[in-house]
Amino acid sequence: ESYDMGGHDTYMHKEIFEQADAVDRVLRGRIDDRFSTVHLGGLNLDAREARGVRRIKILGCGTSYHAGQIGAQLIEELARIPADAEPASEFRYRNPVVDPDTLYVAVSQSGETYDVLAAVQELKRKGARVLGVVNVVGSAIAREADGGTYVHAGPEVCVVSTKCFTNTVVAFALLALHLGRIRDLSVADGKRIIDGLRRLPEQISEILAGEDEIKRLAAEYAEAKSMMFIGRVRGYPVAREASLKLKEVSYIHAEAYPASELKHGPLALIEPAMPTVAIVPDDDLLEKNRAAMEEIKARSGRILAVAHQVQEKADHTIVVPKNENELDPILMGIPLQLFAYHTALAMGRDIDKPRNLAKSVTVE
Ligand code: AGP
Repeated sequence: ESYDMGGHDTYMHKEIFEQADAVDRVLRGRIDDRFSTVHLGGLNLDAREARGVRRIKILGCGTSYHAGQIGAQLIEELARIPADAEPASEFRYRNPVVDPDTLYVAVSQSGETYDVLAAVQELKRKGARVLGVVNVVGSAIAREADGGTYVHAGPEVCVVSTKCFTNTVVAFALLALHLGRIRDLSVADGKRIIDGLRRLPEQISEILAGEDEIKRLAAEYAEAKSMMFIGRVRGYPVAREASLKLKEVSYIHAEAYPASELKHGPLALIEPAMPTVAIVPDDDLLEKNRAAMEEIKARSGRILAVAHQVQEKADHTIVVPKNENELDPILMGIPLQLFAYHTALAMGRDIDKPRNLAKSVTVE
């Protein structure tokens, strides 16, 4: 993509609508149907080394950290390697135990975020192996890492990251599939995930075709002073990212919680003026999510669900196409990017340059 606005009023809108093409690009040339796996040329990690990895620790900031949280879940699900994500800034200040059997992964759109770069440098000083999952080719983090993969989202101009989030999660799905097929993921499951990945671009276009309805919903919820975002397991990082999107572009206060945590405190906030966005994938936690929505309804809370089928308990549902359970989080955040965009637009916000924020944070 170019920096040309291509008929869009803002870069955020343009970049949201580039996602089907961007995902197509990150997949291109990497799928190996013969062995139901993917090739990631720049990893610098051979099969023997990959089999020796005992843990994966993912480090990033903001949206990249959220993408890393979904990445960690994908790695655990597909490659069965214990994995977690942590804000790079926290990691580097807590004198972490650097373990030789742990593979570290630094995630960054810009490749220049200071906290991530400093974490990578500290890890390397201690002898760790660090991979980069980065968008900007040749950036500082890409150069510093021992290997990695580019996410090929194309230039992202809007301060608020959208297409890069989606492509980063897809890049993690590729990494998880690659590691999984070297370890214990079956050919059948490899093929299932590959088929799911191939369906993504068309499903993204389908979601974006629903823009008018999302715009109408945004107008309805825009008067809220604060919003709650909830999800469980696969839905939780989606809720966190959607809450960040709404905050940074509309300045509406938003909280993200695991749905299972509601009763441990945040339920006290629920009342008609505090709407909830619930991420409700059609997976093994569907009934649990329905029960959480019931709790909210019982407190007169309004609910906007993002789900694979209309949710009776919700006041409104944005229905998204179903993919494989593991890949659902890639699609479920996309309508909420548009929701944040239209909410901010209705409020007259500076969409591409929200107050107090910079596209890349190159200082501490
Ligand atoms: C995204 O919408 C934010 N503006 C911000 O959280 C961003 O993701 C973060 O600063 C990390 O940037 P990076 O991906 O370039 O490292």
